Formats: sequence, C-alpha cells, structure tokens
Amino acid sequence: MAFDHAKREALKRKALQVLKQNQRYSGAFRYTLPSAEHYPYQWLWDSCFHAIIYAQFDPEMARAEISALLSKQFADGMVPHIIYWTPGILHLFQWGVEGTSSLTQTPMLAYAVWEIHRRAPDIPFLESVYPALLSYYKFLIEKRDIRGNHLIGIINPDESGEDDSPRFDVPLGARSDISYEDHLKLRTKLVDDNRTCNFDAEKCMRNYFWVKDVLFNTVMVENLRSLGHIASLLKHEDGEHFANLNANLIAEAMREHMFEDGVYWSLAGEEYEKLHVATWMHFAPLFAGLYSKEEAEHVVRTHLKNTATFAAPFGIRTVSKQEASYRPQGYGHDFSWRGPVWMAPHWFIYRGLMRYGYVAEAEHIRDVSMELLLRSGFREYFDPETGEAGGAHEFTWGALVLDMFEPGR
Ligand code: GLC
Repeated sequence: MAFDHAKREALKRKALQVLKQNQRYSGAFRYTLPSAEHYPYQWLWDSCFHAIIYAQFDPEMARAEISALLSKQFADGMVPHIIYWTPGILHLFQWGVEGTSSLTQTPMLAYAVWEIHRRAPDIPFLESVYPALLSYYKFLIEKRDIRGNHLIGIINPDESGEDDSPRFDVPLGARSDISYEDHLKLRTKLVDDNRTCNFDAEKCMRNYFWVKDVLFNTVMVENLRSLGHIASLLKHEDGEHFANLNANLIAEAMREHMFEDGVYWSLAGEEYEKLHVATWMHFAPLFAGLYSKEEAEHVVRTHLKNTATFAAPFGIRTVSKQEASYRPQGYGHDFSWRGPVWMAPHWFIYRGLMRYGYVAEAEHIRDVSMELLLRSGFREYFDPETGEAGGAHEFTWGALVLDMFEPGR
C-alpha cells in the first residue's frame, strides 16, 4: 500500500480532534478520556498512549496527563488502573481507596515519560515525576513477584489491558467456547474474590488468579530501561542500577520460563504452567528486543505473515484464527479481545518490527491501520476479516497510528 500524505493529514486532523474533545479538567488536573461515551474516566495505559502522542504535538498536555495519573498513586507505590474523577458513583474495581480502582495496568509510565522528554526536554518535569516512577516499579517488583523469581504477576485479567483474552481462560476456569454472559460471571466473581483478599497481591495470587503475562513483563523490561535512562540523566546512580539490573533479571526469567517452540507464552500459578493459547503475545517481545535476530525472523515468517493464523486482511489478529476461542467480532460484539484488531497491539508490533529492521512489514501494519480508521472511524476494535468496526466510538487509541510515522527510537 502506498504511503499517502493526504490520508496521513486526514488521520492527524481526526486524531487530534478526538483527543481534544475527550480532554477533561478536574481541579488543577487535566486528562483525556479514552472514549467520552463508553469510558468516562482516566485509564493508566490509555493515558500513557495519549502522552506518547501529545509528546509530538502538545508536550504540556503530555506532562499534564502523567501528572494527573500519578496524583492518585497509593502510599505503597501502586498506580491505579482507573481514576474515577467523577465523584459519587460506586465503581466496579473500587476497594478501600476513594475514587480509584484497586488494580493496576500494563506499566507504560516510564516509557511515556522518557518519550515526552525525548521530544521536549524538561529536566524539572523529570525530577518531579522520578520518585513516583521509581516507587511504582519498586512496588511491582517487590509486591507482584512473590516468589522472587523476577516475573511480575497480575491478579486480574483487567490488569493486562486485555480483559477477556482467551489466554486467561484456564486460570479463570473458562472453557474456550464459553458464552460472553458466563465469562462475565467468572470475571465478576474474580473481582468479588479480589475484594475478599483486599486486592493484596500475595493473598489474591495464591488463592484466586496469578498470571505472569508476556506483555506486562515485556513492558516492564522496556520501561525499566526507560527508567534507567531517566535515572542516569538525573544522576541517581542507585535508581539507574536498580532499573537496569531488574530489566535484565526479568528478561532472563522470561527467557527461562516463558520461551518454548520459538515463542513466548504467558504463565499461571506457582508452577509456571504455560498458557498454550496462541495470541499476539508471540509478537509482543519484539517490542523489548527479547528475541534474537534469527528467532525474530522465525516469528515473522511463521506467525506474523501466516494467513492461517495471525495475518488477516485488516491487520494482525489478537488471537490466532486456529484457536477454538477465536471470535473476530465476539458474540454480538461483546467479547473484544478474542480476535479483533486493536490499535495498541498494532502499535506495539509496529515498534517491535522497526526495532529489528522489518520496515516493510511495519509500514504495512501502519497503512492497514490508517485505512481502517479512515474507513470505519476512531472505533475501539475491528473485525480482522471484514474491517467492520466495533465497541466504543471516538476512541483515542487510533491516535497511536501517528506515532507509526516516526522512525525507530
Ligand atoms: C477496555 C480495554 C482496556 C482499556 C479500557 C479503556 O477495558 O480492554 O485495555 O484500558 O477499555 O480504554
């Protein structure tokens, strides 16, 4: 597909318009809703995505987005995955702390902060957020790795950002052909269980749900490296050492426990049981350079370009077409992470491919993404087979495609 400047400009106009119209104020804080209608709060990884885009076009807003997120950090360092800036409503994941969820989410914070600084250098901003970043990553390492084996655990699928992905079916107790209603019951029960263990990782993981996810850990590795850059620039030697050491330890542990048959698999429980469901987790490790050049070539050739599994007419399926759980649009559009194309996975895969020099493959993902957004609008996800859009409207993640016009970092 040929690169088209007019299309790129149209995409940019629409992306900046969606971001702008989803901006909200709360007292001194400014943040962006992923979708005003469907998601009227602030989400952790969504805000990091917004910050990565704003870094290019509006660095002040990028910094505001991060400051708003960090303003609700818990005393133990956790950054909640949702901030309910609108008061007075009782919310699903809320427990104990007023106004926020009690879960966290894929930790893209340090990467986003480093990207803001790369675009618009601002040492006082880095100094102001550094302690909060350090304590967040320390929290994940100290509280979410209860066996001390350098793999970070999640206590609920929502912490992965992929709420109903079939790679969580086994730990949730779901069959691959489960109905959406039954799946929702299991997830609601898990939140009730999370309440009985006070959302405390040690108890929740041992008793209810303990997954070491490929994306979450990949993102940890790359974000610890970003934290290392920030610490080095600010001359915090201890922090730099902590970040780089743990990035290496997690990468090594992922290799030891998750790697099999040329790809990485998420793990469950005390025994590191591999969750053998083929999802885009095969590609996520490219983002942090966790495959060797030869392994990456195998992954691209055997999986990314394989039309029988992941390569679809409208992008990369989040779940292989061969999986019994594959639902390109979900039952009645309710399931969302059992196959549809999403812009954040496309962005992670794009950046991973660029890192290894697969420029044509990366640009193909960018161009298909752009076509989808211009054709179907800034929607939440897309049917990989037909391109039909589903889920939220005026959803911000489409703006990530603007970052796919940037060369490797
Ligand atoms: C959905 C997505 C999650 C995202 C949230 C807000 O729950 O699965 O990843 O953070 O919406 O956009």
